[in-house]
Amino acid sequence: MPDQLNIVAISGSLRTKSFNTSLLRAMQSMAGESMAMDIATLKGIPVYDGDDEEATGVPQIVTELAEKIRAADGVIIATPEYNFSIPGGLKNATDWISRVKNQPFGNKPVGVVGAAAGPLGTGRSQYQLRQNLVGLSALTMSKPEVFVGSAHTKFADDGSLTDEETGKFLKIWLEAFEAWVRRGF
Ligand SMILES: Cc1cc2nc3c(=O)[nH]c(=O)nc-3n(C[C@H](O)[C@H](O)[C@H](O)COP(=O)(O)O)c2cc1C
Repeated sequence: MPDQLNIVAISGSLRTKSFNTSLLRAMQSMAGESMAMDIATLKGIPVYDGDDEEATGVPQIVTELAEKIRAADGVIIATPEYNFSIPGGLKNATDWISRVKNQPFGNKPVGVVGAAAGPLGTGRSQYQLRQNLVGLSALTMSKPEVFVGSAHTKFADDGSLTDEETGKFLKIWLEAFEAWVRRGF
């Protein structure tokens, strides 16, 4: 295991002012020397179509993300919640990634987090994402969990985290996640 872990962080939101991307940025700035975090976007990934796959293979934008995941020591996914579920774009991305040879998520330590305007902080979509990750053979950390509810009251307009308690908890979560990754499955 390297001194500095290579972590890929995926935001399930495409929005410029996304709370989930802001959450990952807050984690990135807190992570310290022992974890380098690269925030990846899902923007531009086409809707999965088996005919397109047969004709031209897995799109380059997907293979690039898949190779980042494969090369990473661990992955963090911040998911929004849309209608009590995972956003279509995030589910679509995991479906495409599952079509890449030698499953990039296989035995990969993964942490699931999320932020929402509602009070439950994406609990419902996180549990659906966890189920999805079982299908991808990922090793998702069970606890602690991060449910950032009422996110509009916890981030400033520029995306910076303003809520002190959330910041303290994110530090605890990051320590647990680092230990999870360093178990070296
Ligand atoms: C189509 C749609 C469905 C939504 N459904 C939920 C929901 O079920 N639960 C919830 O807490 N928030 C819901 N929201 C509000 C989101 O929490 C809010 O838009 C949040 O900002 C999305 O995450 P983001 O800031 O990372 O883009 C929904 C938003 C959209 C656009």
